[in-house]
Amino acid sequence: MSESEASSPTIWEELMSPLNLVLIAIIVYLVYKIIKSNFESDVTVAPSPPRLPKLRKDMTVAEIKNYDGTQPDGRVLLAVNGIIFDVTPGKRFYGPGGPYSAFAGKDATRGLATGQVAGSETEYDDCSDLGPDEVESAKEWEEQFRAKYDIVGRLLKPGEQPNTYSDDESEEKKEEKPEEKKSQ
Ligand code: HEM
Repeated sequence: MSESEASSPTIWEELMSPLNLVLIAIIVYLVYKIIKSNFESDVTVAPSPPRLPKLRKDMTVAEIKNYDGTQPDGRVLLAVNGIIFDVTPGKRFYGPGGPYSAFAGKDATRGLATGQVAGSETEYDDCSDLGPDEVESAKEWEEQFRAKYDIVGRLLKPGEQPNTYSDDESEEKKEEKPEEKKSQ
């Protein structure tokens, strides 16, 4: 055996060099972390809160105030253009402490139309003084809400009677109630 062959390290010796030992330790640690996180993700994902039962009801301005997210069930409603939406799924926006909590339990039409984060405080705001651009803006918000949230019912003008909604009624039918047309 030549001298150079005798001094060249074997594969085992190569593997056991301090640098390789450190690298092997890092790889083992990372593999352990990946396996552990895969396992934990099955176990520790917080269950999403149970969806509240669907609410179908026409309400007055006074009634809708009871749904600002501070009640035990945490439901949040707001109204746009006379339509009440259940915005509970957007609680991070409208719930207590959220950036748009001023709209919770309120008629948000004027605020959304004019760019003010404030719900109407009056008994009923007919918004008849809004300009065309503001009316358009409110309409666009209404479309967004229609696409994203469930409709609860109509915001009642003073003296208006609530509709009664049955469980099997479709959204379409509810929207076309004759009384709604009468009141316009
Ligand atoms: C500097 C101004 C503003 C900024 C940077 C801003 C930003 C945002 C952002 C990032 C979101 C979340 C969007 C998402 O995750 O889907 C949001 C949502 C929202 N913003 Fe603003 N916003 C501003 C002004 C306003 C104003 C003036 C109003 C109304 C008066 C408004 C009404 C809303 C509403 C209602 C939502 C929630 C929509 C939903 O339920 O999906 N924002 N905003």
